[in-house]
Amino acid sequence: MIEILNGTVEHGDARGREIGFHTANLPINDREHLDGVWAGYAVVDGIRRAATISIGRRPTYYPDHACRLAEVHVLDFLGDLYGKSMRVELVTFIRGQQRFRNTPELVARIIDDVQVTRELTDIGEQFIRLPWIGLVAA
Ligand SMILES: Cc1cc2nc3c(=O)[nH]c(=O)nc-3n(C[C@H](O)[C@H](O)[C@H](O)COP(=O)(O)O)c2cc1C
Repeated sequence: MIEILNGTVEHGDARGREIGFHTANLPINDREHLDGVWAGYAVVDGIRRAATISIGRRPTYYPDHACRLAEVHVLDFLGDLYGKSMRVELVTFIRGQQRFRNTPELVARIIDDVQVTRELTDIGEQFIRLPWIGLVAA
């Protein structure tokens, strides 16, 4: 069963851009969804894109339990999503949150996570919502 997460995109602390995987951050209720990395989709302005989603407290950088959040890396997308409403579809659980020894080890794992997401989602199939027709293939 697909799990859904809705929210308004907040600013992260910009490390995402430094490590090469920028993320749209969404606040998350403490009891919602399982901590870890998921393959799924992000829908903004009616456009659905493949996304790799990390839910948790970033143990690599905050050993003392920072706030819990959902970080959404939208594949092949560089636009600014700040302030936008986003619907996230968590389709497949990939792995749990890990505490890495350093940033390069985290980045190597994220590259794998994104590759797994490409295999699990049909990124060729994207749709745009046109008000007068409904959903059409992009
Ligand atoms: C696909 C993906 C997987 C992630 N996995 C982990 C993880 O296992 N452990 C961890 O500490 N942080 C993980 N992160 C979170 C990164 O630490 C975080 O995105 C980065 O520090 C940027 O944070 P910022 O958006 O607040 O700047 C992951 C992020 C992404 C996008």
